Amino acid sequence: MILVTGGAGYIGSHTVLVLLEAGYDVVVFDNLSNGSEEALTRVEHLAGKKAHFEHGDIRDRERLDEVLSIYPVTAAIHFAGLKAVGESMKKPLEYFDNNVSGSVHLLQALRQAGVFNIVFSSSATVYGDPGTPVFNENMPTGTPSNTYGYTKLVVEELLKKTQAADPRWRVALLRYFNPVGAHHSGTIGEDPAGIPNNLLPFIAQVAVGKRDQLSIFGGDYPTEDGTCLRDYIHVMDLAEGHVSALKAIERFDHGGVGIWNLGGGKGHSVLEMVEAFEQASGRSVPYKIVARREGDLAQFWADPGKAKRELDWEVKRSLHDMMADTWRWQSQNPNGYRE
Ligand code: NAD
Ligand code: UD1
Repeated sequence: MILVTGGAGYIGSHTVLVLLEAGYDVVVFDNLSNGSEEALTRVEHLAGKKAHFEHGDIRDRERLDEVLSIYPVTAAIHFAGLKAVGESMKKPLEYFDNNVSGSVHLLQALRQAGVFNIVFSSSATVYGDPGTPVFNENMPTGTPSNTYGYTKLVVEELLKKTQAADPRWRVALLRYFNPVGAHHSGTIGEDPAGIPNNLLPFIAQVAVGKRDQLSIFGGDYPTEDGTCLRDYIHVMDLAEGHVSALKAIERFDHGGVGIWNLGGGKGHSVLEMVEAFEQASGRSVPYKIVARREGDLAQFWADPGKAKRELDWEVKRSLHDMMADTWRWQSQNPNGYRE
């Protein structure tokens, strides 16, 4: 059985679906601070199989021990944490507490339960600003431009040092590029609370009429059309990457740490995203170009070669799929999981 922390959230719920469809038994552990049980109900309908749900906080060691004593867990996929970049600069203690202390408690509880396989949600942000747009896993990590990103780097180090001290651990550090999209049924997707910070949820809310216009942060970058380039990855491709990583670490004979980029290997500009969304939705997305956002890099994308070689995984879904699936989710669920 796989323990999925944060499994009621955006990426977690899609991964739970892929796990159930691949035949795994799953127990989700989530405090519902940014997740929804409704997402798991919908996952059950799609999979024809239920994931167990346990309400709890990864900072609560007793609750973790209790859940691990009930279920025969063999591996954990660890999504739980806070992820809003702007908020992380204002609330560093909350971010270190949830993301770093929470991970320490989780590792202690797993060790006590004899569970040594873990897949961790990291981010391309750990590369900092390496001075080249193509990020590959051999590059040293840098300095993330925000506190959220810094907590990801700290947890990567925590996992590496834990594994170095005890070779029973098998660890996957998955560095996500820009996750977007939804399951193609349109029944599960991203449900941001309040004003979305990320590009695609904002575009989708403009298209559905919830917001007037998109502000594009910077039109004077040294890129073809002057807007930033990012490597957007369909959340279902990303979810499948977790199952591939889980299988890969199970093959480690003597423990170890595997670091893999999960990205498509191609950059798309903000204007390209707007255009692709308009095409897929048939709606117009009014925008204005405003000042650059602090901390943004002009362009970066993944070198996806290592994941292809070692995980036998690569993205299968196109930019059009990302847009069409986001639109299906947004138009069918204008208020997300809330009625
Ligand atoms: P999300 O907020 O939708 O999911 C996180 C889930 O964790 C939520 O269901 C929330 O209720 C739960 N949670 C938060 N703190 C918890 C705690 N202390 N104890 C138990 N549960 C807790 O976010 P997401 O987009 O699905 O991201 C999942 C993971 O991937 C996060 O660790 C995030 O930092 C990482 N990540 C996300 C992105 C992205 O763009 N979405 C990019 C890189 C990395
Ligand atoms: C951001 C975070 C990163 C985090 C990731 C996923 C920063 C600096 N980086 O990445 O740490 O891992 O989200 O949560 O915040 N854009 C607009 N208008 C908008 C929103 C975004 O023009 O309203 C542009 C941005 O300038 C950027 C692109 O769209 O060029 C993508 O932005 P976003 O979705 O926020 O992702 P990142 O900034 O790449």
